[in-house]
Amino acid sequence: MSTTTDNWKEVEATSREVLGPEIVAFIEHCHEDPEPSGRLIAVLHEVQAKYGYLAPAHLDAVAQLLRVPAAKVAGVASFYHYFRLTPRGRWTINLCLGTACYVKGADRIAQRLRDELGITFGETSPDGMFTLEAARCLGTCGLAPVMMVGEDLHASVTPDQVPIILDKYLRKAHEEKGV
Ligand code: FES
Repeated sequence: MSTTTDNWKEVEATSREVLGPEIVAFIEHCHEDPEPSGRLIAVLHEVQAKYGYLAPAHLDAVAQLLRVPAAKVAGVASFYHYFRLTPRGRWTINLCLGTACYVKGADRIAQRLRDELGITFGETSPDGMFTLEAARCLGTCGLAPVMMVGEDLHASVTPDQVPIILDKYLRKAHEEKGV
C-alpha cells in the first residue's frame, strides 16, 4: 500500500528529473535561506536560462522542490513579461517599431509578418520556426524600416520582401536538417 511519504518520494524524483541536477542544486542552496520562497524568481530565471522557457512541468517541479504553492509559481511566471511560457522559435524576428521605422512603414511590415506567420507579437509560429517580437529602436534609423532575423539585419524592408525573407530562413532550416 502506498503512503503519503512514498508518494512524495515519487513526486520529488520526478521533479528532480524534470529540472536537472544544476537547478536542483540551486534550489537546495535556496533552502539554506531563512525564506527559500523569496528565491522563487531567481529559480525561475535559472530554469528559463537552461530550457529557454518555462513549461508547465518546470513550474510544477519548482513548486514541489522549493515548497511553494503551485498557484503562486504559476502567478509569478505569468506576471513578469520576462518569463516565457512557450518555447521560442528557431529564429526571433525583431521588427523595429521606433519612430523612424514607423514613419517609413513599419506598421505595414508588421501586418505582413502577422499575415504570413499567422501570429502576433510575442508569439511563435506553429511550425516552431519564428518568434515575432517588436523592438523600440535598433540603432540603425538611417536604414529604416529595419528588422532583425536572428543576428541578421534586414534594411529598407518592404511588405513584399517579407515572404522572400521568411522563405530564405525556412530554406536554411531545411538545409540544416538535410531535407
Ligand atoms: S527607429 Fe528603427 S532603427 Fe531606429
